Amino acid sequence: MAEKQTPVSGWAVYKRLLRYSAEYWRTFLIAIVGMFIVAISTLLFAKFVEPMLDDTFIERDVETIKWVPIALMAIYGIRMLGAFLSGYFMAYIARGVVRKMRTKIFSHYLTLPISFFDSQSSGTLVSKMVYDVEQLADAASGVVTVLFRDSLTIIALLIFMFLESAKLTLILMISIPLLLVFVLFISKRFRRVSQRIQHSMGDVSTITEEIIEANREVKIFGGQNYENKRFEVINRNNWRQFLKYHATNALSSPVIEFVVATGFAGVLYYVTQPSMIEDITPGKFMSFLTAMLLLLQSARPLASINAQLQRGIAAAQSVFSLLDEDEETNKGSQNLERVKGHIEFKHLTFSYEKDRPVLHDLSLKINAGESVAFVGHSGSGKTTLVNLLPRFYDLQQGEIIIDGHNIEDVRLDSLRSHIALVSQHVTLFNDTVAHNIAYGDLDSATPEDIRAAAKAAHALEFIEQLPDGFETLVGENGVRFSGGQRQRIAIARAILKDAPILILDEATSALDTESERHIQAALNEVMKDRTTLVIAHRLSTIERVDKIVVLDNGRIIETGKHKELLTKSGTYEKLYKLQFSDAAEASS
Ligand SMILES: Nc1ncnc2c1ncn2[C@@H]1O[C@H](COP(=O)(O)OP(=O)(O)O)[C@@H](O)[C@H]1O
Ligand SMILES: [Mg+2]
Repeated sequence: MAEKQTPVSGWAVYKRLLRYSAEYWRTFLIAIVGMFIVAISTLLFAKFVEPMLDDTFIERDVETIKWVPIALMAIYGIRMLGAFLSGYFMAYIARGVVRKMRTKIFSHYLTLPISFFDSQSSGTLVSKMVYDVEQLADAASGVVTVLFRDSLTIIALLIFMFLESAKLTLILMISIPLLLVFVLFISKRFRRVSQRIQHSMGDVSTITEEIIEANREVKIFGGQNYENKRFEVINRNNWRQFLKYHATNALSSPVIEFVVATGFAGVLYYVTQPSMIEDITPGKFMSFLTAMLLLLQSARPLASINAQLQRGIAAAQSVFSLLDEDEETNKGSQNLERVKGHIEFKHLTFSYEKDRPVLHDLSLKINAGESVAFVGHSGSGKTTLVNLLPRFYDLQQGEIIIDGHNIEDVRLDSLRSHIALVSQHVTLFNDTVAHNIAYGDLDSATPEDIRAAAKAAHALEFIEQLPDGFETLVGENGVRFSGGQRQRIAIARAILKDAPILILDEATSALDTESERHIQAALNEVMKDRTTLVIAHRLSTIERVDKIVVLDNGRIIETGKHKELLTKSGTYEKLYKLQFSDAAEASS
């Protein structure tokens, strides 16, 4: 999937990531102490080899011999402490960063505009939250640990070796420039492959989510083979990207070791020259050699750390570009007092895709307390129009005025607090029925209010049949309810909100005629003292509204009362007759 990938340097991304860990500086200090201890103990071990060889085996110094085993235990004893301090406290920081990052992403998802979600697959967005963030943990801590601990160790060892023999150390250093060139080259590759892995993790989640949601369609239309094939492509790509990553990783450590070993070979060659042999005691040489071996050991994680680092940076780039996505425009500062509900649409033109407007220069006045129905073929722009009122999308041309206030000057939360909505696709939350009705700002509602709202929405009759009544869990997306039951819960939610403006977007489409008639009676009651915008599929349900607006291709082609429109023999009359004959057929 194409993605807005801000081309920023790895360092800039890493700095931003470090800012997230800044608050943990105390923890970091403890970890650093641990790393110091590890580095020092490594150094002590290298140093330890010298007396061990020279005094123990060559000089046979009895006093020293006694101390050798004890010293060894002591060195590894303090090393144990150092390793724990650095290991645990760095992990502490990493998990803290992950937690903070997830909180940020979660609340960001809650404020991103609908248009953002229209353009992204939810699987990708879930994968960012789950997979990408986890990769950050490695970069935030693993890298720092290894970088600090092993760099410290390497520096300490180098200083030690330099003091033992400056010449030999300089010879060893010839491998450093080679090392740098290689690391730079391989970093780029790690980063690139890591980005591909992330995308492919997104693809894996997307398709999985899709077949889980659509498992009925898959079954009835025999989609198994098709989906398996589709998944095979995605899964294979994921596998391939991971293998590329691991190939690079598996190669990078040995290459680095090889380069270091080249320096080694130089040292050995030099030491074995006749002129040198006299210069250095066996113990000193063994000590130097041990330091070299330890150096090699510390250089190895530096190689794999690069892989982790690049993976972390790629993940951070993905997460940061998500966090940099603009939130919903909320420039207005006005706070609306309870509005009467006078609404004016002025010359609205709106398009989802450039140059393909779905609303054309649409103007309409709705008086406070009026009920208006929008009818028209599907795709004529009804949902789009009512979605602009709570500013689900930013207005492009024209304006909407509520009680004299341009809605763009009003704070979003204030604007939305005056609007109740039952949308085309009802979503229930994985919570109790009561919490689904008294959702969000409504959570202070009393049980009596909730009950009254449910009653008005004709939901009480089935809620009372449930094992735990209002306390029954609805299950994910309300699986245990029929479409009609779900709609009735959503209507109860809207009734409970008691807002001056009510939007019903095909709110009763999933109900049978019988229950629709019941609810219609209730809705007529609810519509009485508020402005209501109804989109209805069945025209029989809107005969009593104050005004009917017929939309066609984003334009208003007729307005009037039911009776007036019927006499005009226009589109409405045609639609009505069509439904009437359908209904007659159905009941015959
Ligand atoms: N999120 C969207 N992105 C792009 N196009 C959309 C989106 N939502 C709706 N449309 C298009 O806008 C037009 C109007 O859709 P809509 O307002 O849902 O119509 P209605 O509710 O009258 O059936 C349709 O052509 C539809 O394909
Ligand atoms: Mg619609």
